[in-house]
Amino acid sequence: MNLIREFDFTDWNPKIDQATSQQAIAALEGGFVICLPHLPFELSENEKRFLSETWSDQKSKNISLRPQGGLKGATGSDSDLIALRAMIQRYADQATQLVGALFPDYVPNLVTANTSLRPFEVEGRVSSYRKDDKRLHTDAFPSNPTQGTRLLRVFNNVNPNGKPRVWRVGEPFQQMVAKYLPKAKNMFPCQAWLMHKLGITKRERTPYDQLMLKLHDLVKADMDYQRNAPQQSVDLMPGTTWIVYSDQVLHAAMSGQYMMEQTFHLPPDALYQPETSPIKVLEAIKGQSLGLALNVVLCSDHKPTYIATGIVKSLSQFLD
Ligand code: SIN
Ligand code: FE
Repeated sequence: MNLIREFDFTDWNPKIDQATSQQAIAALEGGFVICLPHLPFELSENEKRFLSETWSDQKSKNISLRPQGGLKGATGSDSDLIALRAMIQRYADQATQLVGALFPDYVPNLVTANTSLRPFEVEGRVSSYRKDDKRLHTDAFPSNPTQGTRLLRVFNNVNPNGKPRVWRVGEPFQQMVAKYLPKAKNMFPCQAWLMHKLGITKRERTPYDQLMLKLHDLVKADMDYQRNAPQQSVDLMPGTTWIVYSDQVLHAAMSGQYMMEQTFHLPPDALYQPETSPIKVLEAIKGQSLGLALNVVLCSDHKPTYIATGIVKSLSQFLD
């Protein structure tokens, strides 16, 4: 099992032939990590100072640039922050060029999300098991349901001291799903509607989001799976760019410091092979649509029983 597909591009806007393009598409949508070991994100002499924890506000894990332009999680003088923002924006621009060159059909539907600089060492970081990204997982977020939209991520190791970012990459999505889907619990009636109304989720959590969240938690909670499931470790050296669908590829970050990351969103139907999307895979197994649920419709009629049950059960789940 080799879950890494290497390409030797040296340009953020590579000119690629038809055959290479098809290999890249098949690799990405097939759930492999596309690894570009000769594609560094170059920092100017003046920008190298940003590879330090001191620019963090020490509250956020990452320094993030919102697509609307806001910089979050950083501290410094106005001129420092302008320079820092320009560096992160350049990464966003280069990642966008790269994705456009490799996956041209995505371009009309590609939505740029946050860009981040991750300044902290991963190894030794303490967190609850659900937040522990040193455990294999596919990305799913409790407050930020995707409703099936893909999470495409472009990473680059910018460590100045030769330190790799060490990842573990796990078995194909379908194989993990076969093990855990039977244990993934559905939502209670009205839970999705209520969580949205109370501001717990940014939008309605669909049955798809619920399953993805449960898969995320079940996999992270299972230490036997974490140790013994099929997996490989990969050292992503400084100067390496890698691209993954993080909602599909089982991944864990074990160690490393200083990384750039760009997230894109893409509707599943905009893929070259939409059937490879987690939502299509899960719908095929379940034999039903996993979009907005019936209970949303029931709740929008303000049926008191559903709402009452929803309140009690959602709160109990939220508290546990
Ligand atoms: C993750 O997406 O789970 C973490 C990736 C990283 O920090 O290398
Ligand atoms: Fe992750």
